[in-house]
Amino acid sequence: VNSAKDTREDFLQCLHSQNSNSISSFINTPNNPSYSSLLQNYTQNLRVRATKTLEPLVIIKPKKAFHIQTTIICSKKHGVQIRIRSGGHDYEGLSSVSPLPFVVLDLIDLRNITVDLAKKSAWVQAGASLGEVYYTIAEKSSTLAFPAGVGLTVGVGGHFSGGGEGMMMRKYGIAADNIIDAKIINAEGKILDRESMGEDLFWAIRGGGGNTFGIVVAWKINLVDVPPVVTVFNVTRTLEQNATNLVHRWQYLVDKFPEDLALRIFVRRVNFSQDGNTTIQAAFTSLFLGRVDRLLPIVQQHFPELGLTKKDCIEMSWINSTLYFAGVPNGASLDVLLKRDPQGRMFFKGKSDYVQEPIPKNALEKIWKRLYKMDAKMAELQFTILGGKMNEISEFSIPFPHRAGNLFQIHYALLWHEESIKEINWHMKWIRELYDFMAPYVAKHPRTAYVNYRDLDLGTNNIHGNSTYQEACIWGFKYFKVNNFNRLIQVKATVDPDNFFRNEQSIPYLDHYA
Ligand code: FDA
Repeated sequence: VNSAKDTREDFLQCLHSQNSNSISSFINTPNNPSYSSLLQNYTQNLRVRATKTLEPLVIIKPKKAFHIQTTIICSKKHGVQIRIRSGGHDYEGLSSVSPLPFVVLDLIDLRNITVDLAKKSAWVQAGASLGEVYYTIAEKSSTLAFPAGVGLTVGVGGHFSGGGEGMMMRKYGIAADNIIDAKIINAEGKILDRESMGEDLFWAIRGGGGNTFGIVVAWKINLVDVPPVVTVFNVTRTLEQNATNLVHRWQYLVDKFPEDLALRIFVRRVNFSQDGNTTIQAAFTSLFLGRVDRLLPIVQQHFPELGLTKKDCIEMSWINSTLYFAGVPNGASLDVLLKRDPQGRMFFKGKSDYVQEPIPKNALEKIWKRLYKMDAKMAELQFTILGGKMNEISEFSIPFPHRAGNLFQIHYALLWHEESIKEINWHMKWIRELYDFMAPYVAKHPRTAYVNYRDLDLGTNNIHGNSTYQEACIWGFKYFKVNNFNRLIQVKATVDPDNFFRNEQSIPYLDHYA
C-alpha cells in the first residue's frame, strides 16, 4: 500500500509527464507556503475541519482546461479522488475534505465572464463568484441582470450545479432555469458542450448537484430584464409588534403578490440593548422590480397589517440591491462585489424544508420558544416565498423539483464560534431537534430539501464501497423527488460508469441502471 507521500509523488510525476510546461504554476503541495491558506480560506464552514480529516495531496489551480484534463487522467491512474471547488461554500465542506486520498481542483483562476449584450447572454467560467457575475453584467448594462443567489462570494460552479435560488425567482425561476449551454469535462477527460453532451446530461447538470457528472468549466446563461430602478425594504417587527400574526398572515400571500415582488422573512432572537431582555424579531426583506409608487398600493392592499410606509422603502439600481441584500452598508463601492475572501468564518450547520400548508400560529409560537434557547442572532430561520414563475416551470424541467404546491422554503441556519466537540454536539442537537419538531408542518412523502443547502444528516453514500438504491433514495428523493432522482441515476450510469466523480451525496452509480 502506497503512503500518502508516495501517492503524491506518483501523481505529480504523472502530471509532469502530461504537461510539457512546468506544472509549478498551477500546483500547490504542502511544501508551498500558499497551501494551507488556500485550504482554509475557501472553506466557509469551520465545522468541517473540526474533526480530523485527510489533507488533500495537492491543491491544483488550473489555468486552462488542459490542466483539468491531465488532472483527471492522473487521478484515475493513481486511484486518487478529485474534489472540485469553485467558491468553497459547500455546507458540509465536500469540495475541500474527503475520507479517501484526494486532490482539490480549485477553479478560482478560471473565472472569466463575457457578456453578449446583443444576445442578452453571457459565458461564465465556473470559478466566478455571484458578485463577479453581477458586477460584470452591470458594467455593461443597467437593465440586465441574472436571477441567482444572495451570497456574493458563492461560486457559480457549485451554485448553478445545485439550482441557485435568489430574490428574482418568482419572476424568472432559479439560476439553473436560465442556463442555456455549458462546457464540461467528463470522466474520460473530454470537453463537451450542450450539443455533444446531449440533452440528458445537460438536464442533469442543471440542478442535479455538483461533483457527480463531470467538471463544469463554464456556463452560458440567459440574462434577464430588470427596470432601471427597483425598490427594496427591510422592516422589522418583534413579538410585541405583532410578529407572530404577521408571519402567519404572510404565508397566505404567495398567490396574491405579483411576480415582481419577493418578500422574505428572517426570524431570529434579538436582545433589547437597554434592559438585556430578549424577544423574537421577524425582518421582512423585499425586492420589488419597479418603483415605490407601484409597490406601496400592492403591499397595502394584500398585507396592510405590515404597516409599510414610503419611508421604509429605498429606490436603487438592481446592482445596488445585490449589495443591500448581502448586508453591505449603503454607499459602499460596487468593488465589494469582486471581493472573494469569505468574511467572518464560523462554525455552521444548515438545513432546509419546503412548506405546503400554512403553519398554524401555535406551532410558530413553539418554534419561537426553541429560538429563545439559542444565543441571539446565532440561529436564524429564513422563510423564502415561492410561487410566481416557480409554479409555472414543470418540476421535471430540470432536477430541482420544488415548484407548484410549495408556499415557501425554510432555511434553518445555525452559527457559532466555540470549537470544542461538546459545543459542536450541543449546537447540532439543537438544530436536529428543531428539524424533527418541524416534520408535521412541512412537505411530506417525501419530506423535501434543497441540495444547495447540503445536509449529510439526510443520509450518505457508502463512500468506501458500493451504494445501494435503497440507501441513496433516502436523501435523493428529498433533494430531487422520485422521478428526477431516478432519471439522475440513469444519466450517471451512462456518463460515469466508473463512478469516478463521487462524494458522500453524489448520484451513485448503480449497475442495473447502466
Ligand atoms: P463549492 O466549491 O464548495 O461547491 C459545492 C459543490 O459543488 C461541491 O460538491 C463541489 O465539489 C461541486 N462543484 C463545485 N464546482 C464545480 C464544478 N465546476 N463542476 C462540478 N461540480 C462542482 N444558495 C442559494 O441558492 N441562494 C443563496 O442566496 C445562497 N447564499 C449562500 C450564502 C453563503 C454564505 C453560503 C455559505 C451558501 C449560500 N448558498 C446559497 C448555498 C450555495 O448555493 C451552495 O453552497 C453552493 O453549492 C456553493 O457553490 P460553491 O461553488 O461556492 O461551493
